Amino acid sequence: MQLIDNYQRRFRYLRLSVTERCNFQCQYCLPDGYQAGNQSFLSFNELENVVKGFVGLGINKLRLTGGEPTLRRDFTDLVAMVSEHSQIKTVAVTTNGYRVLSDVHHWQAAGLNAINISVDSLSANSFALITGQDKLKETLAGVERALEVGIPSVKINTVLLKGLSDKLSDYLNWIKDRKVSLRFIELMETGESATFFQRYHTSGAVIEKQLIEQGWLLELKGELDGPAKVYSHPDYQGKIGLIMPYSKNFCQSCNRLRVSSSGKFHFCLFGNEGIDIRDLLQNSSQSDDLKNRILHALERKPESHFLQQHQTGVLKNLSQIGG
Ligand code: GTP
Ligand code: 5AD
Ligand code: SF4
Repeated sequence: MQLIDNYQRRFRYLRLSVTERCNFQCQYCLPDGYQAGNQSFLSFNELENVVKGFVGLGINKLRLTGGEPTLRRDFTDLVAMVSEHSQIKTVAVTTNGYRVLSDVHHWQAAGLNAINISVDSLSANSFALITGQDKLKETLAGVERALEVGIPSVKINTVLLKGLSDKLSDYLNWIKDRKVSLRFIELMETGESATFFQRYHTSGAVIEKQLIEQGWLLELKGELDGPAKVYSHPDYQGKIGLIMPYSKNFCQSCNRLRVSSSGKFHFCLFGNEGIDIRDLLQNSSQSDDLKNRILHALERKPESHFLQQHQTGVLKNLSQIGG
């Protein structure tokens, strides 16, 4: 069984959100911080059944995300549970970096081999302003630790914010001798962030132009690579990625599916409520029903989120759906 949609896109990458909780207050995501509701997040057993089901559908890369996934007490056990599936070659996490310095060696021992850490600014003041946490130093120390312990893939996520982002040269200096891929992400408009979006959204195209002028070269994409455009330069150890969801053809290379922390299957980040699969996560004997429901739902994945967004409205807050 394989996950292929009506536009011949093949999906081998699952983003699994394990909590909506977060301890940061990023202006573009949770400006007032996480407010606990009455929802319960998927249990370890339910998550295990998600993973089993998707492995049966050919998934070979799994990202644990959130909210802040590492706030779960069983986070290291989750990494180990995912790693036990030999079919999953990439065991990844997306994190705000809060626990990286202290815990990344445990995660690595449990099988983690890819980590994406958010660093929106390299200036302590802007970092604190954007994230609500005065933790730039600790976050950067976490990045160094992840490199030191030898996590094979270390990526940095930087949301582009007009007037708040650093100069491109500051980021370039920082990646000169660091083997990281720093990705600029265009700010996306979510349900609650219309005003913020209008004030701070800026296109990644400006950066792309500067990179090309400075001799950076676009890397060729493999068949299963995602929508990020990656640039490299012979004088730099690090790479620069651009995630431009408002650019033409962004969705053509979509390679990921999502399950939210409340057990909804999402075939697109934009504009749908998700298909509830939680009732089929209670017992591993439900695996065939689970797989069938997912395959059936995938038939409705649209060719591009632009079409869908206009029809159905808005993008959910990324902490709800797992980014
Ligand atoms: P890799 O797997 O390492 O290539 O990274 P990734 O881009 O899949 O993961 P990451 O969690 O670091 O994602 C960074 C951000 O890119 C997300 O949180 C979103 O803001 C954006 N992004 C990721 N996937 C999508 C997508 O399918 N659509 C859109 N519009 N944005 C996405
Ligand atoms: N637009 C763009 N990126 C966002 N992220 C969260 N919300 C948004 C948004 N509205 C990013 C975070 C993090 C990743 C998981 O998603 O900065 O790097
Ligand atoms: Fe937390 Fe990530 Fe949202 Fe920032 S972007 S508030 S770190 S979930």
